[in-house]
Amino acid sequence: MGDRTALLAGATGLTGKNLLDILLANDSYSRVITAGRRKPDREHPKLSALEGQFNSLPDLLKGIQIDDIYCCLGTTLKKAGSRPAFYKVDFEYVLNLAEYGVDFGASQFLLISSAGANAQSSSFYIRVKGQVENAVKNLNYRGMHILRPSLLVGQRDEIRTGERVFERLLNLVSPLMIGPLEKYRPIEARIVAAAMVYIAAGDIPGVYFYESDEINAIGRNYQDRTS
Ligand SMILES: NC(=O)c1ccc[n+]([C@@H]2O[C@H](COP(=O)([O-])OP(=O)(O)OC[C@H]3O[C@@H](n4cnc5c(N)ncnc54)[C@H](OP(=O)(O)O)[C@@H]3O)[C@@H](O)[C@H]2O)c1
Repeated sequence: MGDRTALLAGATGLTGKNLLDILLANDSYSRVITAGRRKPDREHPKLSALEGQFNSLPDLLKGIQIDDIYCCLGTTLKKAGSRPAFYKVDFEYVLNLAEYGVDFGASQFLLISSAGANAQSSSFYIRVKGQVENAVKNLNYRGMHILRPSLLVGQRDEIRTGERVFERLLNLVSPLMIGPLEKYRPIEARIVAAAMVYIAAGDIPGVYFYESDEINAIGRNYQDRTS
């Protein structure tokens, strides 16, 4: 058993839940800490679940050495209800977490961003994703890994009609999405989660971006090795 500690934000979401299962089963980690406004609905001897606002993290984590931070936080414009509320979660909370992580002495930060993230985009969602990438990428981590998945698929607790329609459309045209279009194919959230753990295990220094087709290949590789 290794002695690494992972901090996971967004553990109650689609990708975060899959990631939590993988981290708890991974022998490199002796401790997995989740942080969020709700606790995940599972228990495990390696798991410590912190419940609260992100600005209370420095107090909650005092004295704990964190190695790898996994960020699966995010909302949708519809759920957030307004652009400022969306920005608060997808930009401010993510940046706060990344900044606190530097103070905790974490060496790696792994962030789920989005396909097409671009701080100059005319799409608000894509622009905020690009802005948060720019804000975190030069923080003082040994490894900064930014994943840009396409549409995430998997079993959600909630119904997202828009995403389901988009998923069906993309699935129809998916066989035609080859070459440069491959990175826009829908991707399973559990594969994204697996890719994050695989990337963290590599412990490569530097700033890296991963497009959806690369994430798919990396995540499937991890699954083949662990199944
Ligand atoms: N959906 C897609 O197709 C897609 C595509 C590309 C990229 N992404 C990005 O990938 C990431 C993960 O997506 P996902 O679909 O797995 O996420 P998700 O299922 O929507 O889960 C999001 C997580 O963020 C937490 N969160 C949301 N609002 C919060 C708030 N106000 N305060 C505290 N925590 C909050 C949620 O906590 P609660 O459970 O308490 O709500 C949950 O743990 C997100 O950044 C998303 O933008 C998504």
